[in-house]
Amino acid sequence: MKKLLCIVGARPNFMKIAPIMRALREDAPGIEAKLVHTGQHYDYAMNEAFFLQLEIPAPDISLEVGSGSHAQQTAEIMKRFETVVDAEQPDCVLVVGDVNSTIACALVAAKKGIRVVHVEAGLRSRDRSMPEEINRILTDQLSDRLYVTEREAIGNLRAEGIAEERVVFAGNVMIDTLLHSLPRAIAARHTIEQACALAGSEKDADTFLRADRGYAVLTLHRPSNVDDPTVLVNLLTVLEQQCQELPLVFPVHPRTRAKISEAGCGPFLENSRVLALPPIGYLEMLGLMKEARVVLTDSGGLQEETTALGVPCLTLRENTERPITIEQGTNTLVGVEPDRIRLALTNIAEQAMSPRQPEYWDGAAAQRICRDLAEWLR
Ligand code: UD1
Repeated sequence: MKKLLCIVGARPNFMKIAPIMRALREDAPGIEAKLVHTGQHYDYAMNEAFFLQLEIPAPDISLEVGSGSHAQQTAEIMKRFETVVDAEQPDCVLVVGDVNSTIACALVAAKKGIRVVHVEAGLRSRDRSMPEEINRILTDQLSDRLYVTEREAIGNLRAEGIAEERVVFAGNVMIDTLLHSLPRAIAARHTIEQACALAGSEKDADTFLRADRGYAVLTLHRPSNVDDPTVLVNLLTVLEQQCQELPLVFPVHPRTRAKISEAGCGPFLENSRVLALPPIGYLEMLGLMKEARVVLTDSGGLQEETTALGVPCLTLRENTERPITIEQGTNTLVGVEPDRIRLALTNIAEQAMSPRQPEYWDGAAAQRICRDLAEWLR
């Protein structure tokens, strides 16, 4: 029996680990897996809600690190995870994605001579001002087995000197979760009506649910968009103008809510054509996106999910580490320039889109990973 520690910490990790834990149970009899939660995300809505909806087993070990600066958070995870590694003596540590928990645990394991597996390896935005880009590059350098979601990632890893025999094109585990969960997606009407009822008389669900017009979903949380008040104010100004055409449903990340308030943009959230929600569950988000006219976002995961759903996505960034969502998907990079955003929103009105399935985004990525892993660990 080989002992594997699987790591999660932040919201986007949960969608990735869910199918892996399931496949480990069903397809990898030679592996004993334990789930370690670093506690990077801890609010019920950012954390437990996802465990319940995605049927992820409760963590075997919780590190409860919480928030902090990048250095503090990464260091705290490392200190606490080292104790776990010493006690558990695993054969292998599996990390997913690109958050601080990913690099922190990979680094601890690699320095102890324990094999590291990275799921969602090789994605590159080539923008080192993104904390995630640094996490990706370093995690891949430390990894012994690297599972990629798109072919371009293989070339990225090769260019960084990573031996090709360590790299496996397995597909996209986030899309495993999407396809698995789609039948249980919660109708947009339900989420919107509930949010309007909570908001009281200022918000009218019919504004967002008019069949002839529809709504846009907005998410924002990248430091490059929300930490600089000038960028944030400009972005919210153009979005406030655009919401007269297409109302906005906006689940607000806690860090973004704080930054909006600091920048004095609170009235944006009160606009009758902007429906600001607290962070919502995975099944609610899936339902909202599925029925949206367009998704405006700076998230990485949403670029992939909108591709699989066949919903236009306008990415409020200058680059993406997920180029396949542009080449084969529904994604367009629009940056944060008001004119580009306006033009892109006008253009989507013309386009009819259908769900896309890039190679191996087929719902079976986690099974491919776990079968390969069982063989490789043997
Ligand atoms: C992290 C990831 C990012 C991912 C995002 C998804 C890194 C470097 N960033 O960013 O890649 O896209 O998660 O959400 O790992 N907070 C809460 N409750 C929580 C968690 C956070 O209120 O449960 C607030 C705290 O004020 C905290 C801030 O959000 O300081 C930022 O949290 P953090 O985990 O540091 O980064 P995210 O912006 O969430």
